[in-house]
Amino acid sequence: MRYLIFSFFLLLKLNASSQGINIVPLPNSIKTFAGSFSITKSTKILVEGTDLINSADFLNDYLHRFYGFRLQVITKGDYSGNIVLGKERMDYPIVGAYRLIIKKEGVLISGDNETGSFYGIQSLIQLLPLERSESLTVPFLTIEDAPRFAYRGMLLDVGRHFFPVSFIKKFIDFLAMHKMNTFHWHLTEDQGWRIEIKKYPKLTEIGSSRNGTIIGRFPGTGNDKIKHSGFYSQEEIKEVVAYAAKRYVDIIPEIELPGHASAAIAAYPELSCFPKENTMHSTAVSWYGDSTGKQVQQAWGVYPDVFCPSEYTFKFLQDVFDEITTLFPGKYIHIGGDECPKEFWKRSDFCQKLIKEKGLKDENGLQSYFIKEIEKYLNKKGKQMIGWDEIIDGGLAPNATVMSWRGEEGGLIAVKQKHKVVMTPNSYVYLDYAQFKKEDSLVIGGYLPIEKVYGYDPVSKEMTGEDSKYVMGAQANVWTEYMNNESKVEYMIFPRMSALSEVLWTRKENKNWNTFKNKMPSLMKRYDWLGIQYGKEFETH
Ligand code: ACM
Repeated sequence: MRYLIFSFFLLLKLNASSQGINIVPLPNSIKTFAGSFSITKSTKILVEGTDLINSADFLNDYLHRFYGFRLQVITKGDYSGNIVLGKERMDYPIVGAYRLIIKKEGVLISGDNETGSFYGIQSLIQLLPLERSESLTVPFLTIEDAPRFAYRGMLLDVGRHFFPVSFIKKFIDFLAMHKMNTFHWHLTEDQGWRIEIKKYPKLTEIGSSRNGTIIGRFPGTGNDKIKHSGFYSQEEIKEVVAYAAKRYVDIIPEIELPGHASAAIAAYPELSCFPKENTMHSTAVSWYGDSTGKQVQQAWGVYPDVFCPSEYTFKFLQDVFDEITTLFPGKYIHIGGDECPKEFWKRSDFCQKLIKEKGLKDENGLQSYFIKEIEKYLNKKGKQMIGWDEIIDGGLAPNATVMSWRGEEGGLIAVKQKHKVVMTPNSYVYLDYAQFKKEDSLVIGGYLPIEKVYGYDPVSKEMTGEDSKYVMGAQANVWTEYMNNESKVEYMIFPRMSALSEVLWTRKENKNWNTFKNKMPSLMKRYDWLGIQYGKEFETH
C-alpha cells in the first residue's frame, strides 16, 4: 500500500499536466475528449516531407529551452505514439489552415501547407504545461483552424529608438506565437536612419546618430545629452529576414518619403530643397550640440524639411530601393507618405516650376506625382507599393495598397476605389497609446484599453461585401518615441497584442470578449513563463 501511494505521487510529479485549453488566438473549432497523451523524451516527431523539418526544429528548440530535452525527428516510421507533422489540402482561401488531433495513438498535425503545420505547432505549444517536466501531458482533442484575414501584422518603429537584432528576433517570435505573419519594419525617421545602404554610407555614418534626446513628454524638460545611435548592417538584415522566414513572417521594410526625412537630409543635404538652410526645430526644445547645417532631429514631431522632388532625390531613392528590394524578398515595400508638410515645396522655385511643368494642381498633386514615380520604379522591380493613407490625397498611385491610420476613413475611401487596404486606425490599434487611465509611465497620450482593441473589426460597418474583399487585414503600430527600452515595448504591447491576434485570426462569430477575458490569467502565466513584460492589470472601457 505504501508503495502504491508512493508511485501515485511519483506519477503526479512526473506528469505535468497541460495548461488547459486557452489557445490564443482562439481556434475556429475545438472538440475535447476524455484522456490525455504524454510527450516524453522517447516520443518522436515524424515529418512527412522535408519542408516540415523547420517546424519540427521549432518545436524541439522550444522543448529544449523550457523542458531541457529534444525529440528525435524522423522521416519514416511508426505513426503510433509519436507526433506526426503532415500536410493536407484544405481548400481554404487563406494560407495557414491546420488540423491538430491529439488521441491515444499520438499527436497529428496537418497543415494546408508548411505554414499551416507551423501554426499547428504553435497551438500544440500552447497546450503544454507551464512547469518543467520530462512528461508533458496534453488533452485529447481535435482542433480545426484557419485565419480570418490574410494580413496579420505589427509595426515596430526603430527610428525613434533603435532596438538590436536580438530584440527584433524576439518581436518576430511574438508575432509567430500569435499566428501573425507580417512584420512592418519602420526603418527611417527624422530621428535616425537605421539601415545600411552601401551606395550612401553617410546615411548610417551621420544619419543613424543624434547627439541627444529630449527628456520627458514633448517639448521636454531638457535634453539627456546622450548620443543615441544604431543601424542594421546588410548582413544583419539578411539574418533577420532568414529568421522571420523560418517563422512564416514576411517583412515589409518602410523607407519614409517624402516626409520624415531629416536623418537622410542630415547625411545628404542635397536631398532638401534648401540644402544650405539649418535644420529647423521648435524653440521650445532643448537642443544639444551643433545646431548648424543639417542635423538629425532630437525631439518628436513632424518637420518641414522634406525630400525635394528633384532628379538628385529620385536617383538617390532609386538607388536605395535597388538595395532594399534585393535585401527583402517580400512582395511589399512601404514608402511612408504620411505627415509631409508642404511649406518647403511652396517656397521652392524648383517645386513651383515642376508643378506647372507637370500640370499638377498644387503641392498635394506634387506629392501624388512623387509617389507615383516611386510606384512605377518599384512595380518595374516586381514589388508592390504600400503607403499611409495620405497617399490618397492628390490622387492614388494606380497599384498602391493603402494603410489606413487616421481612423478608418482612408481605408473606406481606398476600398471604394478598389485598392487593397490594411487597416491600422489609431483609434483601435495604436499600441503607443495608454492602456490604463492611470498610466504611470510616460506615453504619448491617448487611451486604448484592451477591450477596445479586442472589439475592433477591420471590416467596418460602412463597408459593403464587395468593399470587404479589399481589406487584407490589420496591423497594430508600435511607435517608440516614449519607449526607449525593450521592457517598455513589451509592457505596451502585452496583453493588447494577444487581443489583436483574435481580431485578425478568429472568426467573427466565435470572437467573444468574455471568453478572451477568462483566458487572461492563463495568458499572463504564459507571459511569465516566457519572460515577457506586460501590463499586469487590464482595464476595460
Ligand atoms: C503615422 O502614425 N504617422 C502613420
